[in-house]
Amino acid sequence: MIVSPAANTRLAAVVVLLAVGCGDEADATDVKPSDASTGMNGGRDAADDPPPNPSGYDGPMFLSETGLYGSGAGGALAEGVESYRPHAVQWKDGADSQHWVWLPEGTKIDTADMDRWVYPAGTKLWEEISVGGQRIETRMLEKLGDDDWLMIAFIWNAQDTDAEAAPLGQLDASGTTHDVPYPGDCQQCHDGIADRVLGFSALQLSGDAEGLNLTKLIADDLLTAPPAAPLELPGDETAQAALGYLHGNCGHCHNPDRQGADLQISVYLWQEVASLDTVEDTVGYRSLVTDRTIPAWVDAMVWRMDERENLGVMMPPLGSKRVDANGLAAVKAWTDRLATEFPPAPAPAGPATCTTGLDEVFRIFDEQGCRTSFCHGATQGELGFMTAQALHDVVVGVDAAGSACAESGLRRVEPGDPDRSLLMIKLGAGPPCGKIMPPGAKLSADDIQVVADWITACEPQ
Ligand code: HEC
Ligand code: HEC
Repeated sequence: MIVSPAANTRLAAVVVLLAVGCGDEADATDVKPSDASTGMNGGRDAADDPPPNPSGYDGPMFLSETGLYGSGAGGALAEGVESYRPHAVQWKDGADSQHWVWLPEGTKIDTADMDRWVYPAGTKLWEEISVGGQRIETRMLEKLGDDDWLMIAFIWNAQDTDAEAAPLGQLDASGTTHDVPYPGDCQQCHDGIADRVLGFSALQLSGDAEGLNLTKLIADDLLTAPPAAPLELPGDETAQAALGYLHGNCGHCHNPDRQGADLQISVYLWQEVASLDTVEDTVGYRSLVTDRTIPAWVDAMVWRMDERENLGVMMPPLGSKRVDANGLAAVKAWTDRLATEFPPAPAPAGPATCTTGLDEVFRIFDEQGCRTSFCHGATQGELGFMTAQALHDVVVGVDAAGSACAESGLRRVEPGDPDRSLLMIKLGAGPPCGKIMPPGAKLSADDIQVVADWITACEPQ
């Protein structure tokens, strides 16, 4: 047994902490380890897999059984297994990784949608992770059938002769600070893209990627619809480095297809091959600059990447404990540029009174059950109000104070300027900090307009 129940409880606590925030209670129940077996049953007969384990996992128990190696584990690869290396390897606190893929003979990857490849049933991919030269775990994705993927990590034994399935994951694996994720965590990242595979994909394998890359896949006739022209991110080295990093490390969650994205996420970082002519064309640029009036989301990317203490803020929200200094520098070099594309911020408005439309705004929030507080998390900025006047006083000209948004530099209501008012911003999907308001829901477009009009009509005192 590699995972003690105590480790499992600790892991569960971390997961719940990650997921619970204002209005996010539903997520917490989505990811508890007892759900780890959901969709993970590959039709294997559980009776074949001794001993039974508490997670309900019934896939292969050892890496040596997965078809990666010719025989045993750690030696020569099995026939047909190819190595590859995506351009942007995911940051895992400086751990090294190696990647392999196996496609069933005679099959092709369906690339009709170049941004969302669909892999043949039976496809397997592995990622071996080592820390300081020591192999710690090998992760595997196996496509069992349509929309059915096995996701599991195998932890290497002390003799380095084989690795055992870890359906509960493991914190601080093999005496390192590296945490091995359990399947619920795998899903947090891999379910963000329709057919689950993240790095073995068009942009990540384009150009001179090592090993099996796009050029070789085309030459070997392994794609149903090869791209018409070579794929390359636009812009100079700075833009390419940042766009590539964000695509590889963030895009799988930051795209509109991810479940829940309509409420939680509005910065899209999964680049699409049809939008690579210029930097301004890219999904990332449009979502950060073209579709915005203020640089709050650009700033938020940088401060969230630079955060590992505040679990409600840090990005990515799981999978790393240390800030990726090089990745952050690459992103910041580009975002510093983007920040100059916005008009300079005007001086904050002086004291103001916002009475026109106030009763209507109070009614809207009251109906949403927001009156006692918008937010129930102890660490969030509590906003209690019992009357329209109290609502006014707790937001108008008041700096954001919740732990997630205090650094945003925004006020709850910037009199006369809805675009710079956090209250307003949080009514839209994917605010730059904190959670959408009201928690887990979204006001109608008409109600949102009422709030905007109220803020616009504020008058200096
Ligand atoms: C924090 C997000 C995250 C978590 C958690 C995560 N992965 Fe991944 N994984 C990625 C990203 C991003 C890539 C692509 C970049 C790379 O290969 O480094 C990837 C790549 C892989 C690959 C190579 C194939 C591919 O998709 O490109 C495998 C196999 C894999 N992960 C398996 C797993 C398994 C199994 C788990 C859980 C035990 C897991 N991953 C947890 C983000 C994550
Ligand atoms: C495992 C999925 C996941 C990954 C990976 C991830 N994010 Fe997020 N991100 C979220 C979720 C969910 C939210 C909304 C909830 C919240 O605010 O915490 C969010 C919110 C944000 C926001 C607030 C604005 C918005 O709506 O989109 C920014 C900015 C952000 N993330 C940046 C990043 C950056 C930069 C990376 C990569 C370095 C990254 N994220 C990686 C899931 C992810």
